[in-house]
Amino acid sequence: MKILGLSGAVGHDASAALYIDGQLVAAAEEERFLRDKHAKGRFPLESSRFCLEFAGLQPADIDVVAFPYSPISLLSPARWHYARRYWYAPDRALDALFNGNRRYKKNVRGVMSMLEQLGVNTRQVHFMPVEHHLAHASSAYHLSGFREKTAILGIDGKGEYATTFFGYGENGQIHKIREFYDPDSLGGMYGALTQYLGFEMLDGEFKVMGMAPYGDPEKHDLSRLIKYDRKDFHVDTRLVNVIGLRRYKENGRGYYFSNKLVDWLGPKRRGDAIDDPYVDYAASIQKLLEDVSLGLIEHYLGDILKETGKLCFAGGVALNVKLNQRIIALPYVQELFVQPAASDAGTAIGAASYVANELGESVERMEHVYLGPSYTSDQCIAACRECEHNPDWEVVEDAPARAAELLAGGDPVAWFQGRMEFGPRALGNRSILGDPSTAAIADRINEQIKYRERWRPFCPSMLDTVAEDILQTDHPSPYMTFTFDVAESWKSRIPEVVHEDGTARAQIVTRDTNPRYYKLIEEVEKRTGNAVVLNTSLNRRGEPMVCSPADALNMFFGSDLEYLMMEDVLVTKRA
Ligand SMILES: [Fe+2]
Repeated sequence: MKILGLSGAVGHDASAALYIDGQLVAAAEEERFLRDKHAKGRFPLESSRFCLEFAGLQPADIDVVAFPYSPISLLSPARWHYARRYWYAPDRALDALFNGNRRYKKNVRGVMSMLEQLGVNTRQVHFMPVEHHLAHASSAYHLSGFREKTAILGIDGKGEYATTFFGYGENGQIHKIREFYDPDSLGGMYGALTQYLGFEMLDGEFKVMGMAPYGDPEKHDLSRLIKYDRKDFHVDTRLVNVIGLRRYKENGRGYYFSNKLVDWLGPKRRGDAIDDPYVDYAASIQKLLEDVSLGLIEHYLGDILKETGKLCFAGGVALNVKLNQRIIALPYVQELFVQPAASDAGTAIGAASYVANELGESVERMEHVYLGPSYTSDQCIAACRECEHNPDWEVVEDAPARAAELLAGGDPVAWFQGRMEFGPRALGNRSILGDPSTAAIADRINEQIKYRERWRPFCPSMLDTVAEDILQTDHPSPYMTFTFDVAESWKSRIPEVVHEDGTARAQIVTRDTNPRYYKLIEEVEKRTGNAVVLNTSLNRRGEPMVCSPADALNMFFGSDLEYLMMEDVLVTKRA
């Protein structure tokens, strides 16, 4: 059976994923094709085209379209909760009761028109909506490969109404234990503080998390933001997760925090220069998120975890690697699987895998995220020939060895290989690499790719042969979704990828999943003694990761990088 999963229902991170007979064949985010980060307000037309083309399918071959947004019944507590909690905005409250599936209907119209553009006959294809949080849950559970009873956690800003999901998976079925509804959203609360700290929602959360270790979480008590008693929580909507007239406004733009929050904490942070007291607020909100999440996990999932120790996690908040580090440290958690595309892009995979399972297919475990387009060396050469910058290029015999030589010599290298990653992390196919033992390589990359945010630490990719020695654990970490404490003996060897608090967000590379990247890091080890590279995504600030050779060349010539390895083609800048 051929199932096309589509995300984009909540207005950002549109993506497409294709399942054929339970196997995830292709997936890509729309932003990469549109060259517009998060592809806000768009449906996944280009990414769907790519999936079909990759699999050699015609639009008529698609049996089912799975969509991670579903109608919510008036009998569900969701709409009533929303209406009660938003009493101060009566138009929204009444809308939830009397026209509570308006957004769903609008989504269906949008998807149908996109499918028609794609050439799919919308009268013939089977359209299956999946509740947003069930899609997140499926993207975590069905792709984890866990066979035993597995605790499932979902935390994001908001789907239809649900914001937080506790459940479990057993014998392929997903069961709900408890959901929380808008405006009681942990992701929303963190997002509102992200805005208050002067960053954009969807991307800025990573910066708040990066800022947190520089501050003192005990200096300011932010617990007023949320009423919490281990099994229930209510966000204070006089301060955050606000709508309508309660919103703080600046230059005609409304924010998800209130004037009251500004009266309490001081003016919203502006620019990137002022740190005090904002770094302490970042530390406090991070700690609050961690403490409340851990308490709820213990309450709702503790019994299951004590039984089997397996937990899987998706939703935007699952990209909070510091929270994940604390989850793994819980005594009864043996293994945590975080869906690498934890944010809404991953709901395309989630909806499709959920539907596949419902229709009786056995859904395969996720082995890697290299699910996007790839290009041959000849295509890379053709792109060089067409490039207006008239680049200097040569075909090299052993690209991993040549790149390792450059890295060991202290130069950063843009590394464009194989199929593009799905999800927000570059995992060795669309990466900028450096040698983490070269002093100030991080600063150099910052200079060369220009104005990268100072709160985003650089991360390591390391071979499986040294990972346990560096990270002091045998917990799997293929997708950079966790931080670990770096062993003392390694901190001075790879200082450029160790964060302020002594942790690193590591990708452990195995030969099976990415032989070429593995070979490159082996070559680096031969030259530096460390089987580790610094790895950051191949893009400039504010742009999506590059997709095609033409994108890579554009990015390369718009930066001060000097070396770009595209498959076997080494592009250099003239002196
Ligand atoms: Fe979501």
